[in-house]
Amino acid sequence: NEIYLDGLRGVSPRFPMRHDELKAAAHAALPASVWSYVAGGAGDERTQRANVAAFERWGLIPRMMVGASRRDLTVDLFGMTLPAPLFMAPVGVIGLCAQDGHGDLATARAAARTGVPMVASTLSEDPMERTAAESGGTPGFFQLYTPTDRELAESLVKRAEAAGFKGIVVTLDTWITGWRPRDLATGNFPQLRGHCLANYTSDPVFRSRLAKAPEDDPQAAILHWAQIFGNPLTWNDLPWLRSLTDLPLILKGICHPDDVRRAKDGGVDGIYCSNHGGRQANGGLPALDALPGVAEAADGLPVLFDSGIRTGADVVKAIALGATAVGVGRPYAYGLALGGTDGIVHVLRSLLAEADLIMAVNGYPTLADLTPEALRRVT
Ligand code: FNR
Repeated sequence: NEIYLDGLRGVSPRFPMRHDELKAAAHAALPASVWSYVAGGAGDERTQRANVAAFERWGLIPRMMVGASRRDLTVDLFGMTLPAPLFMAPVGVIGLCAQDGHGDLATARAAARTGVPMVASTLSEDPMERTAAESGGTPGFFQLYTPTDRELAESLVKRAEAAGFKGIVVTLDTWITGWRPRDLATGNFPQLRGHCLANYTSDPVFRSRLAKAPEDDPQAAILHWAQIFGNPLTWNDLPWLRSLTDLPLILKGICHPDDVRRAKDGGVDGIYCSNHGGRQANGGLPALDALPGVAEAADGLPVLFDSGIRTGADVVKAIALGATAVGVGRPYAYGLALGGTDGIVHVLRSLLAEADLIMAVNGYPTLADLTPEALRRVT
């Protein structure tokens, strides 16, 4: 309504309204190596493209005379009520997309303004405490890349608890970086490393491992970080992960029903179905195709989902296929590149407005109405 009313007054929206235009504008705005990092994926990016294309194979079946004049998009998650089933997926090194380098803070401010939670990445340019402080009343989650140094892992989780995050998302698919030709071609990695250490260099355990303070010997800090970054976890580590926190524990990167069952047996609070936006391994199943099996195995446990969400229609379809809430990654990073917090807010509000209108026009006024029966496979 705001945009239509502005239009009547001759005022055009400040940011592109279509995802492809948003993406093109972000491409033009960002330095080439940053663009490669954010927009790129693994291999020849077939999985990344397939994530997006998978949504085209489902169509929502319109229902008439439902009188869906009021919609309810609120969702209960881990004892909290969120205004909508949408969140911002963790985007590491997002500071590269922000003009002032503080992409984590800009994201937190967008969370504060919209009520859409952020999942704060371990790889950040701002320490998590500062990020949490900018989120206002909107709950946030901390995403853990589990280091091999267990005491450091524990310290990061305790800090996240103390900072007020409402859940810990442990990413399982990235203990090693995938084959990303675009980044390999631009030799991007040193640049990234310099931008992602704030949570480590501010950590007492990390600092205690170094001979000199990271401020005095940044190179040594980077080398140490590279050594401890990725822990190739096994299911035997789940009891330890579970023991780290009483906050909701969510495992990210789960796409197989058997893995859901093992996670459930290990006492997790939520499953996060994702293939990392196709950034980690090429040749994989589109994440959306994994979602129904994951949701069935989750059997009532909340299921978060991301990878390929570009429109409000995609949000609605993922909910109908079993997601409790869905995340976006690249789209909000593009919004940030174009207009800081305002750009992110634009992306989130557009997604929500479109999802809301689709539910209205198609006669599905609540999230509970969105079941697999609301969809038909198109191809
Ligand atoms: C990511 N993603 C990610 N995931 C994670 O658990 N920790 C992280 O630090 C990052 N970093 C990261 C950086 C960038 C630039 C991107 C684009 C993505 C993955 C992210 O959380 C999410 O799974 C995907 O982005 C979802 O796919 P879409 O929405 O980008 O298609």
